[in-house]
Amino acid sequence: MTASELTGAEPTGSTLTGTGHAVAVAHPNIALIKYWGKRDERLVLPFTDSLSLTLDVFPTTTSVRLAPAAEADAVVMDGVPARDERLRRVTAFLDLVRDRAGRRERAVVDTRNTVPVGAGLASSASGFAALALAAADAYGLPTEPRALSRLARRGSGSAARSVFGGFVVWHAGPVDAPDPDVASYAEPVGDARLDAALVAVVLEAGPKSVSSREAMRRTVATSPRYPEWVAASRAELVRMRQALRVGDLDTVGGIAERNALGMHATMEAASPPVRYLTDASATALDTVRALRAEGVGAWATMDAGPNVKVLCAAADAERVAARMRAATHARVVVARGGPGATLRAEAG
Ligand code: PMV
Repeated sequence: MTASELTGAEPTGSTLTGTGHAVAVAHPNIALIKYWGKRDERLVLPFTDSLSLTLDVFPTTTSVRLAPAAEADAVVMDGVPARDERLRRVTAFLDLVRDRAGRRERAVVDTRNTVPVGAGLASSASGFAALALAAADAYGLPTEPRALSRLARRGSGSAARSVFGGFVVWHAGPVDAPDPDVASYAEPVGDARLDAALVAVVLEAGPKSVSSREAMRRTVATSPRYPEWVAASRAELVRMRQALRVGDLDTVGGIAERNALGMHATMEAASPPVRYLTDASATALDTVRALRAEGVGAWATMDAGPNVKVLCAAADAERVAARMRAATHARVVVARGGPGATLRAEAG
């Protein structure tokens, strides 16, 4: 029996030697207060705290198996061997894990996404959360959730949040922290009282033109609007947490939509500008506004891609989805709050 079987589905407990093989599942999360901009590129430390909802759709399943005889890591993504930048990112992440575990073995990584990769639907969040958990278990690093959140952050910032289920806040950590790597992690928003849904409008499933990494860099370095967005975001996070506590969806939705539009405005002001939103996104946004004008509580949020996610009450989700489908002719998926990253018992 492996350590993952012994510890069940919860990402807790660790072994001194590692299990050698682990399979983990993680879900994407959608930020309602965005992470946009790093104050430290190497450690992936953000300028601001962010707040998200982990979804119950589009899971990523990742297997990490140590291969003591291999000279290089082998990475397969959705059945296709990874190359170039994708392979480099996974290998760099495994190097970090090996370094911490004091191990040298290479690994075979097999990852399966159910979300379109690179289209601003948070595949990197579910991807690196699943990889962090599977690799930590296989190599014998601690898998308690806070340590795992810090580790996942190094792969992709938003992955720090996918370690947990439901509403999650990622603390940027104080700039003068003695160890800033330790001070920046995500944790659940324990007191959120909101039965919300996120309706994902999949306008484009292809990879994005500019990576979020490059777009953030450009925004921080050149957008005159960035400091203003950072200040607004900090205040919005405080107000959103209050609104979540009392289950005030109108306030949560209003803040989320403003925060996302502000993020897109700040990157459009960068040089050269970054524009992820398309005419199809504008149509989706107009539909969300029309729903509101009719008295349906619906608010939009967009990430590093043209796709639009609509926050609404769970009870309104099917009605909102039908309207979004009719207006955009896109694939529309209704998501609710989902679970944190878990180990699958089948590894051995
Ligand atoms: O984790 P990254 O590097 O893919 O950045 C994600 C950034 C956004 O999705 C646009 C916002 C967020 O907070 O998830």
